[in-house]
Amino acid sequence: AAAAMAEDRALTVVTCTAPVNIAVIKYWGKRDNDLILPINSSLSVTLHQDQLKTTTTAAASRDFTEDRLWLNGEETDVGHPRLQACLREVRRLARKRRGEDTAPPNLSYKVHVATENNFPTAAGLASSAAGYACLVSALARLYGVEGELSEVARRGSGSACRSMLGGFVQWQRGERPDGRDSLAQQVAPETHWPELRVLVVVVSGEKKQVGSTAGMQTSVETSPLLKHRAEVVVPERLALMERHIRERDFEGFGQLTMQDSNQFHATCLDTFPPIFYLNDISRSIIALAHRFNAHHGRTKVAYTFDAGPNAVIFTLADTVAEFVEVLRRSFPPSTNGDQFVRGLPVGSATLPEELLEAVVPEPLPGAVRYILHTQPGPGPQVVDDPKQQLLGADGLPRHRS
Ligand code: DP6
Repeated sequence: AAAAMAEDRALTVVTCTAPVNIAVIKYWGKRDNDLILPINSSLSVTLHQDQLKTTTTAAASRDFTEDRLWLNGEETDVGHPRLQACLREVRRLARKRRGEDTAPPNLSYKVHVATENNFPTAAGLASSAAGYACLVSALARLYGVEGELSEVARRGSGSACRSMLGGFVQWQRGERPDGRDSLAQQVAPETHWPELRVLVVVVSGEKKQVGSTAGMQTSVETSPLLKHRAEVVVPERLALMERHIRERDFEGFGQLTMQDSNQFHATCLDTFPPIFYLNDISRSIIALAHRFNAHHGRTKVAYTFDAGPNAVIFTLADTVAEFVEVLRRSFPPSTNGDQFVRGLPVGSATLPEELLEAVVPEPLPGAVRYILHTQPGPGPQVVDDPKQQLLGADGLPRHRS
């Protein structure tokens, strides 16, 4: 009885990591704002957690008096409706699965959650997808819930449901009003296209003015182009994109990725009042990619932009060194000592004179803060090493240096 007592008083702790994803067929617009049901399906590539990840530790104990959350070390309000929806849904699934089982952690125990990104939030990389995917993974593991969890992650943030899987992932819009069929599905695993590489180009500039949630709501209300896109364009593009991925056809994949990013930003301009996420640096990266491809006579690099000015470039391994050098020549790093190229190693390249002349513009020093080199990667992971836990034995954030 004493042992059972001790176990009951103990802290149950789980730590997970989750990835960022970047859409190549964009999600923009909801048909249900509360359940987060989209007006169209979308498709994304999950990025490798060696370069970009969120880590979340969730703990339950009967000694906790309230649910509490720490984001990058700072305590945050747990009252946020989307956070509450995720907590409630995981607990509901746990109750359904367990019946009357009262093994620890008891479902009535409060939880403490600490979460951290391994990349600066200030970099403007969308982190809510990885954040909610990680929260849901950790909570589900804590309560012993398995199986379909993208539906729960979706309640945190639409794009988060795609971060529940690795590789190439489709979020099916679904038809049901209750959202039970609005789920993420893997199109191909991360090992499917080993040569595919990703360059996240973090540009200088202020924070975005309009968040995705508010922005897409105005777009749904005012943009006839968005309606046409969701009804006519996206269904055709999804089938095409799946084929390009299946066949590892970079030219087809790259062209469609660029066209879909451009159409998403066109719907933003078609929104009234209009929304602008691209800035002058974004547009000069677009022009650079097109000149680079034209010079080579085929699509060797493809850009995509979300609700902010940072570019994400898809390319193949054999083109990385040359294109990074093109970026470095076009946007020379300002001398602040920071590492300009981060992530996976990038080889050196000497640019031929004709390429320099045809592709590289008048340099814009300092316009790009840094470039992160990464690749497709797996879905959320459970971390077994106790040293990686973000909460200490007292259930409070550990001091981290
Ligand atoms: C432009 O998933 O951030 O990145 O569902 O309101 O949380 P909410 O929006 P969010 O929107 C992402 C929009 C996008 C395109 C995409 O990721 O598909």
